[in-house]
Amino acid sequence: MYQFKDENGFTVTYSHQSDYFSKSPAHVLILTRYNGQWVLTQHKKRGYEFPGGKVEQGESTEDAARREVMEELGGETGELISVGQYKVDTSPVIIKSVYYTELTSLTPKKDYHETDGPVMVTGELLSERFKDAFSFIMKDDTVKISIEYIQKFQEGGREL
Ligand code: GTP
Repeated sequence: MYQFKDENGFTVTYSHQSDYFSKSPAHVLILTRYNGQWVLTQHKKRGYEFPGGKVEQGESTEDAARREVMEELGGETGELISVGQYKVDTSPVIIKSVYYTELTSLTPKKDYHETDGPVMVTGELLSERFKDAFSFIMKDDTVKISIEYIQKFQEGGREL
């Protein structure tokens, strides 16, 4: 369990337990890789960030994750691996489930919803993310904690 303040001064609490705060979270965030690179989406207002958004009525959390990856990247989600869940103490609170996936395909589209489509990150994401072009969401410790967990997962041969 981790706790810190985000860029806006809100308290963020993060757990690696997939349903720590809610079994039906309203938001999802998916850390995506393709051909050995991180793939972000270019949000029209906030800048570069991982794909994600709100879970729709009647949709499972995993289905929302797959849909957002297709809408915002044109990517086909591979195995969807749970990384955890976090809560932002905004009013109302935001509860977001975090996943990791390696895309099985990335196909150009005409429309990427509220985003301008995929951006591949060359270089070290953990330092690159502090540049102005990146969304404030990327500057949270949630990104560092998630990436370190994924790396541990990959090194450990899928044993977590
Ligand atoms: P839409 O309703 O989708 O247009 O977006 P919105 O920004 O109005 O609402 P959303 O519910 O996505 O977020 C509301 C506020 O919660 C944001 O302005 C942020 O302050 C905060 N928030 C949302 N997601 C995150 C996140 O992943 N990390 C952090 N630190 N804050 C977040």
